[in-house]
Amino acid sequence: METISIVDSKKYVDKKVKIGVWLTNKRSSGKIAFLQLRDGTAYFQGVVVKSDVSEETFALAKEVKQEESMYVIGTIHEDARSHFGYEIEIEDIEPVGASKDYPISPKDHGTDFLMDHRHLWLRSKRQFAIIKIRSELIRATYAFFHKEGFVKFDAPILTGSAPEGTTELFHTEYFDKDAYLSQSGQLYEEAGAMAYGKVFSFGPTFRAEKSKTRRHLIEFWMIEPEMAFTHQEESLEIQEKYIAYLVQSVLDNCQYELKLLGRDPKVLQRYTKLPYPRISYDEAIELLQKSGDFPDVKWGKDFGSPEETYLAEHFNKPVFVLNYPKAIKPFYMKPHPTRKDVVICADLLAPEGYGEIIGGSERATDVAYLEKQIEKAGLDKADYQWYLDLRRYGSVPHSGFGLGLERAVTWITGEEHIREAIPFPRLLNRIYP
Ligand code: 4AD
Ligand code: MG
Repeated sequence: METISIVDSKKYVDKKVKIGVWLTNKRSSGKIAFLQLRDGTAYFQGVVVKSDVSEETFALAKEVKQEESMYVIGTIHEDARSHFGYEIEIEDIEPVGASKDYPISPKDHGTDFLMDHRHLWLRSKRQFAIIKIRSELIRATYAFFHKEGFVKFDAPILTGSAPEGTTELFHTEYFDKDAYLSQSGQLYEEAGAMAYGKVFSFGPTFRAEKSKTRRHLIEFWMIEPEMAFTHQEESLEIQEKYIAYLVQSVLDNCQYELKLLGRDPKVLQRYTKLPYPRISYDEAIELLQKSGDFPDVKWGKDFGSPEETYLAEHFNKPVFVLNYPKAIKPFYMKPHPTRKDVVICADLLAPEGYGEIIGGSERATDVAYLEKQIEKAGLDKADYQWYLDLRRYGSVPHSGFGLGLERAVTWITGEEHIREAIPFPRLLNRIYP
């Protein structure tokens, strides 16, 4: 008899197996007990028939508590009625760890209560499916960038630079110096691109954003590719290819998780069709103004979530918005060759109301221009000499972008709030557990 995982059940139909599980729920009568079981790979049902097992086993089945752990021994059968498709007919139960008064019952709880119990809540079906899809997106990210010839190039987390501006920095002490938690690995990725051509980083980033929205985390994970000898248009092609690859990977490898979430695969299929539409910021402003729904929209303002939602809904697909006003974008973006007021950049807006998932740009290469921009941004030139060196020694056109992993997870899983897209979310008023 083999010890297996629930997910491997289909290979063991009509065979006797042993599985380490937790009880999620149960229902029983005098003659039969239905145990809802999980082992971290899937959820399925165990059936204990009184007349087929010892008295002791049936008594155990009737007494087992929510989240108690045990080994179950029995035979796998097909079960067409469940999402998973298999169940186990239990012959024997070996209790492992007791569980008394599990705080999360199958009935409804408030969000705060659940967030306080996040360490346990993660065991629930919906959370399981989201975290599995997150894991698949990480796997697919590495597969994609390695396939495309990128080198994984890790950026530091303790830094002295502020690529995205000074208002959202987490300050810390670095012995007798000041340091910040990384807002973005980009500037370091630019050094990597000049050394290895095509690089990407994947790591935690920190923003002391005082915004309490369903799209913002204080700590989030970002994938940041950077490419030498690459103009913005080629970067957009890589971006859409990458997003389509992520969506396709979830369709290929996470059908069970999508079913648990009730996420329609047909909707996701639409996002694997390339290219994604591209519109300029100017055109976006025009669209918003014409709609009549946004009386306050005027050229020069950044988009809020209603504007982003409208634009992506309009195309019913992810859409690139190109060339935003220089005044609302960071210092490093390449200025437009003929228009002083815009920069060569793009945000990718996800459909279904999920907003910006990628921010990227071509990078400025002119040292004097960058020095002026650094000053304007209120940053200390001395801290950026290494960055300017990248322009002093064999500078080339280069572009890159950043995908917020949790934004992508929230969108692909169809989840309402970004707090579900990371195991332990850091939010404005929450650092426990
Ligand atoms: O648009 P952002 O700020 O761009 C950068 O940081 C660039 N340096 C990236 C680059 O070009 N290498 O952030 C990039 C992405 C956003 O599009 C969004 O998906 C995500 O990071 N993001 C957040 N996700 C969750 N919570 C937050 N507070 C986020 N801020 C940005
Ligand atoms: Mg952005």
